[in-house]
Amino acid sequence: MFDIKKIREDFPILKRKVHGKTLVYFDSGATSQKPEVVIEAMNKYYRETNANIHRGVYEMSVESTRLVDEARAEVADLIGARNEEVIFTRNTSESINLVAYSWGEDNISTGDAVVITKLEHHSNMIPWQELCRKKGAELRVVDVNEKGELENNKEALILEENGLKVVVGGWNNLLDSRVKMVAFTGQSNVMGTEPPVKDIVEMVKRLSPEALILVDGAQMVPHMSVSVAKLGIDFLAFSGHKMLGPTGVGVLWGKKEVLNKMKPFLMGGDMIGEVKLTGATWAELPNKFEAGTPDIAGIVGMGAAVKYLKAIGMENIHEYEKEILKYALEKMKGLEKEGLINLYGPEAENRGGAIPFNVVGVHAHDTAQILDNYGIAVRSGHHCAAPLVASFNVPAMVRATFYLYNTREEIDYFIEKIREVPKVFA
Ligand SMILES: Cc1ncc(COP(=O)(O)O)c(C=O)c1O
Repeated sequence: MFDIKKIREDFPILKRKVHGKTLVYFDSGATSQKPEVVIEAMNKYYRETNANIHRGVYEMSVESTRLVDEARAEVADLIGARNEEVIFTRNTSESINLVAYSWGEDNISTGDAVVITKLEHHSNMIPWQELCRKKGAELRVVDVNEKGELENNKEALILEENGLKVVVGGWNNLLDSRVKMVAFTGQSNVMGTEPPVKDIVEMVKRLSPEALILVDGAQMVPHMSVSVAKLGIDFLAFSGHKMLGPTGVGVLWGKKEVLNKMKPFLMGGDMIGEVKLTGATWAELPNKFEAGTPDIAGIVGMGAAVKYLKAIGMENIHEYEKEILKYALEKMKGLEKEGLINLYGPEAENRGGAIPFNVVGVHAHDTAQILDNYGIAVRSGHHCAAPLVASFNVPAMVRATFYLYNTREEIDYFIEKIREVPKVFA
């Protein structure tokens, strides 16, 4: 049972005022708000347990280590993985960089190709651009149609600049035996597009059998039920702060067989087996990829966030978000018909809770600022996906993103206030 009233009570920040108005938080795509149980788990950790992990035999250190292990088990259970395959990083960006360096350095060479899509956040674009440039490999980019959905058959276009060859086209023109990595988003942070992950995986395995598959789950894992085993992928990256957890903790999940073959990303304490002055061996998974003291309190908070999400149920969260997305999209289509806004992105069936738009004749930043005066927090800009936004021939978009604590009443208020925006410039 999805009790929205009760859920909202769990988030203290939703009671705050912004410019004297009750906060309407529509920027969960950037970072989510945190329930009391997460805030309290972290406070309790610092008040009662604080000690470094792995290094002590005394009770508090053992307790700290146990709390990190428990959080890892919660995350592993959420995505259907084995505990040792869950590596704690700082965020999605670091998780993807880990793969691009640690796996990419040894497995990509001249003549190989890496496939990404135009939907990608810069986090899942720049590491691959730089890897391909360095290695003399080709970067292939799956283009989007006018709805922000991935193209299957678009004719390939070649761009070449600063020592990097980029081929832009449809899936069918880009997948072949030269492809060694396919890295794509599970949900676009700009358009909300939900690419058909299972179909894409099946297609990659057929057309590029040697390729590994990385899914950027930053906007996927917080919003739906995900099983890495069922998806048949090799890596999944996501951030705790977008799924009710604190900032500073992210996850890289990788298949054990693949992670075992990769060299460490960062070197130092905690990631070693045996150390001599002349060299070292590496620790077993996951420690091999977790050098130094992690954000222990953050990991504890992330564990509490995952527990909270699981108690509500990822299926229930997904269903509720789809309902409010449909509700908002219908209303916004009404505004578009009136000529007030331009809307971007696919139909509700193929998208999660993100709606990018522009008020006609008004810059996105102005719209966001006017809405802020009414207590509504939305994002404006290129949303760290500059090539995608540019392909819609606009300098910026306003983006509203929803999560489990948002309501139809908030959407009604938002729609009412969008109507006020053009009046300011009249
Ligand atoms: C799809 C996607 N990938 C990656 C990221 C980067 O996440 P982080 O800033 O936590 O590294 C984001 C953040 O907005 C995102 O939406």
